[in-house]
Amino acid sequence: MSKIALITGITGQDGSYLSEFLLSKGYEVHGIVRRHSTSCTQRIDHLIDDTSIKDQFFIHYGDLTDSCSLANLVKEIKPYEVYNLAAQSHVGVSFEVPEYTAEATGVSTIKLLEAIRQNKSDCKFYQASTSELFGGIPGTAPQSEKTPFYPKSPYGAAKLYSYWITVNYREAYNMFACNGILFNHESPRRGEEFVTRKITIAVAKIMSGKQEKLSLGNLNAKRDWGFAGDYVEGMWLMLQQDKPDDYVLATNETHTVREFVDAAFEEVGITIEWRGTGVKEKGYDSKTGRLLVDVNPKYFRPAEVELLLGDPAKAERHLDWKRKVGFRELVKMMVKSDMDSLE
Ligand code: NAP
Ligand code: GDD
Repeated sequence: MSKIALITGITGQDGSYLSEFLLSKGYEVHGIVRRHSTSCTQRIDHLIDDTSIKDQFFIHYGDLTDSCSLANLVKEIKPYEVYNLAAQSHVGVSFEVPEYTAEATGVSTIKLLEAIRQNKSDCKFYQASTSELFGGIPGTAPQSEKTPFYPKSPYGAAKLYSYWITVNYREAYNMFACNGILFNHESPRRGEEFVTRKITIAVAKIMSGKQEKLSLGNLNAKRDWGFAGDYVEGMWLMLQQDKPDDYVLATNETHTVREFVDAAFEEVGITIEWRGTGVKEKGYDSKTGRLLVDVNPKYFRPAEVELLLGDPAKAERHLDWKRKVGFRELVKMMVKSDMDSLE
């Protein structure tokens, strides 16, 4: 049985899609869940409750900051592939909890790599690296595997450590360790505090009379937004190659936060008319004149990554990976899902 995978961050957006993907490929899937006072398994409850996969899908208590639990789990499960998706993954929040972010998003990667090296060194390892590594060197878009890193947040700096320690274990110990440098990927399962989901939930709530308006931070930031379901296939493909390497996954298309707002409201038949600039910029329903969007500086970050645009040519060439869902389709999917859940 070579198809045994261990996923950290299995309760997150990507963990849930990756679990479904690996189960569909016949894998035995194990996930690490940390203890909460209330359940946080909503994204995988359908898998936990599915009796037809009770011998294929397993959940274990553990924590990425706890090297004992990681070593014990690697020893017990003997995985052939480990996907390290767990992290304090919110860039804005990383400015509020920088030390914890360094621990959970950075240092914990060495704990997991050591657990593997000492107990199952032939195991393949995927590290969830990020386009936040590129940060903000002007003139470096589109960004590829060759673009220099310049993180702009405690999150980005912690991920930089994880990126390099993954490369280091590959080179020093000949481990099959890969970095997926993934640009933003979204879905109806996206955490509600990330901007895309915040927008699509607001559209649904405004339409059903449950919310007055949407308040956002930097409307000018540009992101390369893809669909999470497409990206988990890319993670798996990286571990199926003859040699370990690092790959960018992206759509090669970028949009401002403002454009995402426009597209989301267009899904419900509203055209946003923007007036004003900076913190005074506001978005109105062009037909009724109703105020729907404003700017609240509390959502600004101490430092910002202004432009992300990824070049996925290497992944397309070597992995035969290509994103399937485009920007408009992604927005439509997310708005529809949030509208349906409020009906
Ligand atoms: P997410 O929805 O925020 O999920 C994060 C996961 O990490 C959750 O399952 C969370 O568990 C778990 N976690 C956090 N701290 C932990 C700890 N100390 N011990 C064990 N588990 C812990 O993130 P995502 O969007 O799925 O992203 C997956 C990974 O890819 C992250 O590492 C993220 O930084 C990276 N990434 C994401 C994107 C993107 O656009 N989505 C792009 C590039 C890279 P709880 O449920 O208990 O909180
Ligand atoms: N969250 C949030 N909330 N972001 C806002 C808001 C708001 O109200 N208003 C504007 N923004 C801007 C942020 O300043 C940022 O420029 C952009 O919207 C996207 O923010 P997020 O959705 O929080 O994502 P992110 O790009 O910072 O980080 C995500 O993508 C990274 C990959 O590039 C996360 O998933 C990271 O974990 C991931 O590594």
